[in-house]
Amino acid sequence: MINARTDCRCCRSKNLNEVFRLGDQPFANAFLRSEQLSELELKAPLIIMECSDCSMAQLSHIVDPTVLYREYSFVTGSSQWMTSHFAELLRTNIRDFVPRGGLVVEIGSNDGSALLSIKREGIRCIGVDPATNLAAIANDRGVTTLCDFFSEKLATAITTGVGQADLIVACNVLGHIDDLDDFCLGVKKLLAANGRLVVEVPYVRWLVSNNECDTIYHEHLSYFSVGAFVHLFHRFGLQIEKVESQAVHGGTIRVTAKHGTENASSVQPWIVEEKLDWTRFRTHCETMRLQLLAWLIREKKEGHVIWGYGAPAKGTVLLNYCGIESDLIPVVVDSTPSKQGKFVPGTHQPILNPEEVLKQMPSACLVLAWNHYQEIERKESAYKQAGGKLRTPFVTLFPTPNNNRTS
Ligand code: TMP
Ligand code: ZN
Repeated sequence: MINARTDCRCCRSKNLNEVFRLGDQPFANAFLRSEQLSELELKAPLIIMECSDCSMAQLSHIVDPTVLYREYSFVTGSSQWMTSHFAELLRTNIRDFVPRGGLVVEIGSNDGSALLSIKREGIRCIGVDPATNLAAIANDRGVTTLCDFFSEKLATAITTGVGQADLIVACNVLGHIDDLDDFCLGVKKLLAANGRLVVEVPYVRWLVSNNECDTIYHEHLSYFSVGAFVHLFHRFGLQIEKVESQAVHGGTIRVTAKHGTENASSVQPWIVEEKLDWTRFRTHCETMRLQLLAWLIREKKEGHVIWGYGAPAKGTVLLNYCGIESDLIPVVVDSTPSKQGKFVPGTHQPILNPEEVLKQMPSACLVLAWNHYQEIERKESAYKQAGGKLRTPFVTLFPTPNNNRTS
């Protein structure tokens, strides 16, 4: 169920060096039902290895995806902002690359929210998502969704059934896939001659410079650099046309690729900037951990109650990495109905409806879903007016002007 990976999944080099270790961690999205609290929880090592040949960073161990994804609790529709971001991505790329009646395939289509937004526009679309619960929601909403992992085999089936795709979109998906060779072979089959592949992934350069240690978890097998994409795509006859930065998830790159072997000249400047200081990252994350604990202990001594706001996977990682259990943060709230009533993996805080914040008035909430800070701040204006405080784990403690973690 847990396998070690000893070669770079982008360039296949064996020159991998350990750069960061979070220790043995529970699975960040495996929210527990109350009867599971007394059972032994599965944990696996979280260790980042960097490839010295292409600057790809990847986890040393891979947990069987069928364990991680069959019941996935992240639902795109739960964030208006994310839904409109992906809808925007689809609209622009459809305008530029998809003829009327053309085919769009979204890999990792989640609950179908993004595809639903373009369904009315005379475009055929297919979603692919391995989570049975999410694929079912999407199909119920009328978005045809294949409940499977994307692969060369699935790409062949889609091509045979409905033809090639003018646009293939994979947002926040590539980092979850171990066999990127199979993914690229699938793209090569499915993508029409003039089609585009658009991928979005969190960018490793910003992960390192913004100290985003909480975005490291078992589902995120890879932390991509542009250099890594160049190596990967080149092996499969895909060329990079454009790299853009996006403010999603604390800093994301959008890479547009098509068939061919010549990358655009705008790609090289990205690679030049990719010298990653993992030592500074390590020191900074450890300091953050100690300062966060010191703040929580101080607040507790003063009789203040601090709750967690949002139960994203990165919240689980932060709580477990820092060792913050119910004595320091007794409650976490989250707007996702399927998470409410469950408990945070490892640290076991109960997850309540955010309505409880205004009702019970904790002194402050540590916003674990920091990438949604502005949306949360808007929703909790009454709580703030009543004297409640919202804090983020990093910005509060390291208020640097360039820190974009509340975006
Ligand atoms: P994400 O960081 O993976 O996008 O997950 C965000 C989590 O935060 C998700 O579980 C839903 C939760 N959330 C709230 O509880 N309230 C909100 O207003 C928003 C936007 C998200
Ligand atoms: Zn490599």
